[in-house]
Amino acid sequence: MANSSAPGTMRLEVFRYSPETTDGPHFQTYEVPYRKDWVVLDALNHIKDNTDGSLSFRWSCRMGVCGSCGMMVNGVPKLTCAAFLRDYYPDPIRVEPLANFPVLRDLVFQLDSFLDKLKSVQPWIVRKEEKPVSEGEYLQSPAQLARFKDFTMCINCMLCYAACPVVGLEPHFLGPAAIALAQRYNLDSRDQGRAQRQEVVASEDGIWQCTFVGECSAVCPKHVDPAGAIQQAKVASTLDWFREVLWPWGQKQ
Ligand code: FES
Repeated sequence: MANSSAPGTMRLEVFRYSPETTDGPHFQTYEVPYRKDWVVLDALNHIKDNTDGSLSFRWSCRMGVCGSCGMMVNGVPKLTCAAFLRDYYPDPIRVEPLANFPVLRDLVFQLDSFLDKLKSVQPWIVRKEEKPVSEGEYLQSPAQLARFKDFTMCINCMLCYAACPVVGLEPHFLGPAAIALAQRYNLDSRDQGRAQRQEVVASEDGIWQCTFVGECSAVCPKHVDPAGAIQQAKVASTLDWFREVLWPWGQKQ
C-alpha cells in the first residue's frame, strides 16, 4: 500500500466499478479530512457529498444495527459505521465491496443469493398447530431463552459470508448466518419446524460443507458465533442419524 497520508488528512483507495462504462473495476484515491471520531462510513459520505457524488454504497442507521454498511476495509469484512479512521491513521485505507458477492456498482453488491438462503431455512417460528389467542402467550423460561438468545443478535450484515473461505469456493453453501438463524429457531421452545429446516440445513449445501475455519465468528460484529451454531447443528444431525439407524422406533426430536 502507498505512503502515509498528508497531515490532517487521510487517503482512501476506493473500489470503483460502473457497468455502463468501459473502465472496468479499478481503485480511485480520495483525500478526506482526518477526524478521530469519524468512521469509514463518514469518510465515504464526505466523498459523496463534497468530491464525487457518483460513488455508490449502502448504509442506513450509522449505529451498527441495520447491517447494510458492510465492506472490506483493508481486506477485512467490517461494518464501516463501526470502523474508526483512528484505527488506521496515518496509513491509507482501502475500501472494497464485501468479498464473495457479485458487484453491481462500486461498493454495492447483489443480495439475492443471500436472501434466498435465508428464506430457505424458514427463519421464523413454525407451529404445527397454533393455539387459540384466548389461551394466551407461549410462555418461555429464562433458561429456554438463554439457549438461543445469542443467535438472535444477527443483523444479516453478511460479514460472515465475506470471511468464509467455503462460501468463496462453493457459492451454493448455505453459509454461516442462515445456519445460525436456523439454529436460533430450532432451539426455540415455541418452534416446531426443525424437521422442515433440516432438509435444507443437512443437505449437501448445508452444514457438512463447513470446515470450521471459524472466520465467520471472528468477524461477526454482534458476537453471534455462527461457527458454534454450525457445530451444534452438526451434533444434532449426527444424533438424528444414530436415532434413525440404531433406534428407528424412537422419536425423532
Ligand atoms: S449503517 Fe447500519 S450497521 Fe452500519
